[in-house]
Amino acid sequence: MAKKIAVLVGSLRKESFNRKIANELSRLSSDGFDLEIIEIGNLPLYSEDLDQSPPQEWTDFRQKIKNSDGILVVSPEYNRTIPGALKNAIDVGSRPYGSSVWPGKPGAVVTSSISSLGGLAANHHIRQAFVFIDVPLMQQPEAYIGNSSQIWNDDGTAVEETQKFLKDWMGAYEKWVNGFSKS
Ligand code: FNR
Repeated sequence: MAKKIAVLVGSLRKESFNRKIANELSRLSSDGFDLEIIEIGNLPLYSEDLDQSPPQEWTDFRQKIKNSDGILVVSPEYNRTIPGALKNAIDVGSRPYGSSVWPGKPGAVVTSSISSLGGLAANHHIRQAFVFIDVPLMQQPEAYIGNSSQIWNDDGTAVEETQKFLKDWMGAYEKWVNGFSKS
């Protein structure tokens, strides 16, 4: 059966370059991998007050993460750190205390930016949170996609150099996930 990878896109923008990168990763992935973007824009802001009677959106989100075999984050950097919507999703999945859906899911992080820095700071801030929620993260290769507005062909695919990078990177992540296969 194909491995189900839950993809979290840190931008809520319709024409998001990160969403396009996530779609390219899906297109360039192997047959044995099924990437699905799990929407995070509809999640009410996390508050412990709601733990006793959680919003349906939280319950659905947590279930989708539970059902997945891996977590792939594709995100921009906002003000040199994690976009709020993505951080909220991380927090929602981590609670109620003792019932986090994250531990043990093999993860990886891609960041991109319209600048040349590729979202470096956000990438490492996401990694920091993932250490605490016990997501075993692929360390290498790293993925910082710079100049994200300029890497597209007219048909919406990424330019050749970026496609090659994304395909190789995805192959490395697939190996990482396969290393965690349930026996
Ligand atoms: C940005 N952007 C940005 N870029 C960057 O490299 N470092 C940063 O700290 C920020 N900060 C930031 C804050 C906010 C609120 C916005 C909206 C944007 C620019 C960012 O790289 C650009 O908008 C990307 O296009 C966002 O990704 P999507 O929406 O295209 O996926």
